[in-house]
Amino acid sequence: MKKDFIWGVATAAYQIEGAWNEDGKGPSIWDTLTHEEGNVVDGGNGDVACDHYHRYREDVALMAELGVKAYRFSISWPRVLPDGIGKPNEKGLAFYSNLIDELLAHGITPYITLYHWDMPQKLFERGGWLSPDMPQWFGEYARLIGKRLGDRAKNFITINEPQCILGGMNGNGQAPNLKYSLKDRLTATHNLLKAHGTAVKILRETVKDVKIGYAPCGMPVCPKTDTKEDIEAARKAYFSFDPKDPTSSTSVLSDPVMLGDYPKEYYEVYKDCMPDIKSGDMELISQPLDFYCQNIYSAVEAHSENGKPVVDGYPEDSPKTDMEWHIVPSALYWGPKFLYERYRKPIIITENGVSLPDAVGPDGKIHDSNRIDFLASYLKELKRAIADGVKVNGYFYWSFIDNFEWNFGYARRFGLVYVDYTNQKRIPKDSFEYYREMIKIHSEA
Ligand code: GCO
Repeated sequence: MKKDFIWGVATAAYQIEGAWNEDGKGPSIWDTLTHEEGNVVDGGNGDVACDHYHRYREDVALMAELGVKAYRFSISWPRVLPDGIGKPNEKGLAFYSNLIDELLAHGITPYITLYHWDMPQKLFERGGWLSPDMPQWFGEYARLIGKRLGDRAKNFITINEPQCILGGMNGNGQAPNLKYSLKDRLTATHNLLKAHGTAVKILRETVKDVKIGYAPCGMPVCPKTDTKEDIEAARKAYFSFDPKDPTSSTSVLSDPVMLGDYPKEYYEVYKDCMPDIKSGDMELISQPLDFYCQNIYSAVEAHSENGKPVVDGYPEDSPKTDMEWHIVPSALYWGPKFLYERYRKPIIITENGVSLPDAVGPDGKIHDSNRIDFLASYLKELKRAIADGVKVNGYFYWSFIDNFEWNFGYARRFGLVYVDYTNQKRIPKDSFEYYREMIKIHSEA
């Protein structure tokens, strides 16, 4: 990777901050969901999490030791606007201002995700993503953040993983964990995309030299063989969408933002339950971005059968993590390659990582050799993509620190840093050292 490659680590507010109702913070839909019995595997919640709200200085010092160039974190919307709109919470804003100062003092560039799933409960009660007012509410939140933090933070990501956000409206267990009709989910999709565009517009107005991205996910598709036919089949499968549920697709959630319209088939397939698309919507949604992000963990394979793509599923021999996710390093070759070919925008991998049953050994260390293997094999593929001309500007490992893994609670550990939740002790794992070395070698090259 080039010397200016952005090596980073990523987290999200609800998963690490804790202080769920401290210093004036309002409730989010994840506070509501996790405070109801039975929604989280281990009964966990984000009330304390990694206590990052109080320990951020210690954590930033660890990031500096790791040698990362950048840190991707999200803002808790209800921490800065307890009701989602209206009067800002000065103590909440002060936390993020202090965090940014701490990062900059350590030479670490902040990358701010505006929305990483923790919608203010009050706005959910007013319709949430179904409300036609959401784009404006989100835009005003973006304006507040731009105005208060944009003098020092210049890199913004509007929304993290719309596919999962909309999955939470299809009963996938994520907040609000309700089952909306397909028409409602298409309306929510359109409002979410308009909210993204509104935030881009407003950030451009409020932050000097701002750089903006958007971080969807979606399952990359790799060709079963390197034949031209299988590669074309994988590309087609990657950008197709499920007629029963388009909200988990890459193309439906990214074409409007990156190409200015939904895939043409979308209008045909959903003609009976189309959202209300007003004139000017697509122009608002497709405000130009500076980079296109993607969270990539795994991939399925496809092959060509008489020119038609057939998705085969995960590669037979691919090992699984304790999240039951298949380890498929070539996801970081074909995913960025196909995305760059389609969207022609520099790519940032905003999440990639592995959850393992880490444990502290008799020597007090965590010898997570499998995570090192994961990192080595995926980054090798990412380098191969870059060597083949794919413009990748950066890579953020998920996650800097073990944290609250949504419906899995604390039973899943992705971090380069281990957290003993009984006393909040941080212990860098062996992979922390490996990533530090990796960054050092590439920064000196
Ligand atoms: C996601 C979220 C992260 C997760 C991570 C591991 O991609 O689901 O952005 O918050 O914790 O991906 O599941």
